[in-house]
Parts: sequence; structure tokens; C-alpha cells
Amino acid sequence: MLSTGRFLRTSITLSRLPPVGRLGCSPGTQRAVSCYRSDNNSCSSILLSKRGLRTASWPMPTLADRSNLFMATGRVVSVVSVGQPGILKRVHLSIFRRSTSTTASEAVASGHGRRTVDAPIVGYWTLFCASMVFGIIVWGGLTRLTESGLSIVEWAPITGAKLPTSDAAWEAEFEKYKQFPEYHKVHIGITLDDFKKIYFMEWFHRNIGRLFGVVYLVPAAYFVSKGLVSRAGIAKIGGLGLLLLGQGAMGWYMVASGLEKELGERPDAVPRVSQYRLTSHLSLAYLLYAGLSLYGWNVFRANRLVNKKIANPEVLRALLQEPAVVSYRRKITAATLLVGTTCLSGAMVAGLDAGLIYNEFPAMGLGITPPLSELWSQHFARGDPSAMWRNLTENPATVQLGHRILAMTTFFTLSALWWQGRKLPLPRAARITLHAMYGLAWMQVALGISTLVNFVPIVYASAHQANSVLLLASALGLYHSLRPLPRLVL
Ligand code: HEM
Repeated sequence: MLSTGRFLRTSITLSRLPPVGRLGCSPGTQRAVSCYRSDNNSCSSILLSKRGLRTASWPMPTLADRSNLFMATGRVVSVVSVGQPGILKRVHLSIFRRSTSTTASEAVASGHGRRTVDAPIVGYWTLFCASMVFGIIVWGGLTRLTESGLSIVEWAPITGAKLPTSDAAWEAEFEKYKQFPEYHKVHIGITLDDFKKIYFMEWFHRNIGRLFGVVYLVPAAYFVSKGLVSRAGIAKIGGLGLLLLGQGAMGWYMVASGLEKELGERPDAVPRVSQYRLTSHLSLAYLLYAGLSLYGWNVFRANRLVNKKIANPEVLRALLQEPAVVSYRRKITAATLLVGTTCLSGAMVAGLDAGLIYNEFPAMGLGITPPLSELWSQHFARGDPSAMWRNLTENPATVQLGHRILAMTTFFTLSALWWQGRKLPLPRAARITLHAMYGLAWMQVALGISTLVNFVPIVYASAHQANSVLLLASALGLYHSLRPLPRLVL
């Protein structure tokens, strides 16, 4: 992706070269040439560098008219004519000889050299992957809420993909489960049929994770090998792939924390996964979701720009550079981070089962907050006076209060931004997303309070979790729709 600014500097240098077709270069050479085509009164420059070839063309009288510029990158296959009026066309054909079209936009989108814009199919694929992550998050929440997450006590990434097929195999799995504290403290005396139900929940969660791995990696390899992804796209796909691998490993690391034998030995210990690891697992899922969505939206936007499907790009570009809009975008960025932080604090609440205390709102016990002695208790410092901070992450009352404070701050921030955004000249997509975000913020608060006052019923808690992903998506979507339009000069 090259900017017009950079290009213009290049072309000014080039235009000092003799104006009429002086072209002489061979594949791979580093050379600049310029050529004036008298037949259609256009001026063109070609810059050959080690990285490939760039061309630019504009009608002669309106050199400053940026919308007439086009630029492409590619490898020079052959340059045959020197000094002929039709020279530019011939170079184009050489570079994009695989292309069936001769328009500049299509050339960039399907050129022989490394493309600068990912193909639209890549966007459909990443958005499909994002929707899968959404489904996995919801199913993961249901697995936790039905206390099913610790039913499979081994990590077998390949062989674990199969459900036990015989009665003996089911019995063996059940026996293994009985060796761990959760059976004795939470599910004591459950029947084999009950065990099969909780086992299925966890097995399905792991298997949609496995399926996601295939749905991600196989098309990724295909798209890259077929040249449908830009260089920047390859880096993003690689980064998201690493995140995906990290997520799988983090999932098991989290489960392992709930299988520790010590949880059965200490009478006060609850056999559940560490809230830190649960939060990390959820954070990685949210990051993956956010990364995939942003990537997909970027691909669509770039393609719409390239294919001239954005009605008046220069007007939109100018609008997005308005100081008021730029300042608003910064606020939306901060608000998106705030939504993410609130989600993480919610995961801490879930990890500590802190939604099962103080089941009223806005009060917490006798006041608006519990007494300080409870919020800042020695008990959670475990005898170390310098470790009082543990109350922030291990004391259920403090963690719940933290989530309430963050949630209400988020809600009022989003409301204020909605109010401000209504009066700004935002693009249509941003305006729609803004209203959606505001509606989702109301829903999120309503669902959070309903979850709390009803002692965390599965339906409300799951809806609260699912809506948090949508809220985050809407904030990200708004941020995305306010980002400056990329300079895709063809
Ligand atoms: C912008 C507002 C909010 C956001 C973004 C948010 C986000 C979240 C998230 C992501 C979770 C973790 C869900 C899970 O892992 O299953 C959660 C849990 C929770 N939230 Fe919120 N929340 C918000 C507002 C509220 C409010 C206002 C309340 C009530 C006062 C609330 C009460 C809870 C409770 C009780 C849980 C634990 C549910 C469980 O154990 O599954 N939330 N929240």
C-alpha cells in the first residue's frame, strides 16, 4: 500500500526526466523512466526498484488531481518497446499478464505480483472465523455455567477429538474423573448419564476449537499460496494464528488449574479454575474475535475503495480528517478499551463466582458498597501485609464492586459519546453503529443486573456474556468506521 504523498514525490523526481518515451529497462533493474503519451495527452512515470515496478499516470493538464493517479506494484516480466507511444500499455500487460482485465483497480486486486489489497474472499473468511469465535465464547460460557469444564481430565489434542464409543470407554472416563476434587466436592454421586452430559459440553467446546483450527489454518494456507493475500495480510494472518495456538494452550492451562489435587485437600478450597487463567483465556478469545473482525472489515473497505464502490472517497476522506471527527475517534478508541477492561473484570467475577453474593442493585448489603473492612481484608493477603492488593483480584466482594464501577463508568461513557456523536457529521455506517452500540450498552447493563439479582441463572448469564461480545464488536466497528480512509493509489 503506497501513499499518494510518497508517490507524488516520486513522480516529481521522475518528471524531470525527458518527457517523451525514453524507456529502457530490463527485468529486475533499478531504474526510473517517464513517458508522455501524445495520443491521449497523458503523462506516465515508471519507477523500477528492487521491490518491483510502480507506474503512475495522469492526464497532463491536471497533474495535481489526485483522483486521476493510479499506481500498481508488480514484478517486471519483460519490457519490450522503447520510445513507442503505446509503451505504458505494454508494460502493464507484462506485469499483469495473468489479469483478464485492464482496469487499474482490477490489476491491483488480481495482479501477478504480490497484491496490495487482500481479495474479498479473505474478508468473508475472517468474518466467518470471527463468528465462529463468538459461538465458541458462548459455548465456553455455557460449559462453565453448567459446571462441565473439568469433566475431561486429560489433554489429547488429536485423539481427544473422538467421543468414547463403548460403555467400557465411558466407565473408564468416569473413573478418571472421580480421581479429581470436583467430583467429590461438586458432583458427588452423579450417575454415568449425568456425567455423559457434562462430558459432552466440554468435549463439544474442545471440538469446535479443533474445528476452528482447521477452518482457520487450511483456508489461510490456500489463500496465501494462491496469492490472494497482501504482505501485510500475511503478517496479520500469522499473528492471529499464533493467538489461536496460544488460546488452545491457555485453555488447557486453565483446566489444569481446576484439577489440582490440593483443591480437594483444603476444606475451604473450591474446585474451580483459577480466575486469572479464566480471564486470560477469555481475553485471548476476545482479542482473536477483535483481530479477525477488524481484519475482515479492513479487507472489505479496501476493496470497496479499490473498486470505486465508495461514492465520493475524497469527501469521506476529508470528513474523517475533520478535527472534531478525529477527536471523537480518539474518544471511541479509549471507550473501546474501557469496554474490553470491563469485560475482563466480568470474567474475574465469573471466575470467582462473585455473582452469587450481594444479589441486589444498586445496594451492596446495607450501603452502596460493603464495609471497607470486608473490601480490604487481611484474609486475602494471606498473612503478608504487602499483599493486600490481592483483594482486588481474589476477594469476591471487591471484585464484584470493581465490575459494577467499571460497568457503570462504561455505560455512562458510551451514553455521553452517543449524545456527542449524534451531533457530529458522521458517515452513515458510523452513525448506525453508534446507535447499535448505545442500544447494546443498555442491554448489557440490564442483563448484568438481571443476572445478579436472580443469582446467576444460566440463560441470563449466558446472554450477558454473549451481549458483551456484541457490545465490544459495536465499539470496534464504530472505531473502524471512523478510521482514516487508506491511501490505495492504483
Ligand atoms: C458495560 C457493562 C458490562 C460489561 C461489558 C460486562 C461484561 C461482563 C463479562 C464479559 C462477564 C463475564 C461473563 C462470563 O465469562 O461468563 C461478566 C460477568 C458478570 N457481570 Fe457483567 N458486564 C457489564 C455490566 C454488568 C452490570 C451492570 C452488572 C450488575 C451489576 C454485571 C454483573 C455481572 C455478573 C454477576 C457476572 C458474573 C456472571 C457469571 O458468573 O457468569 N455486569 N460481565
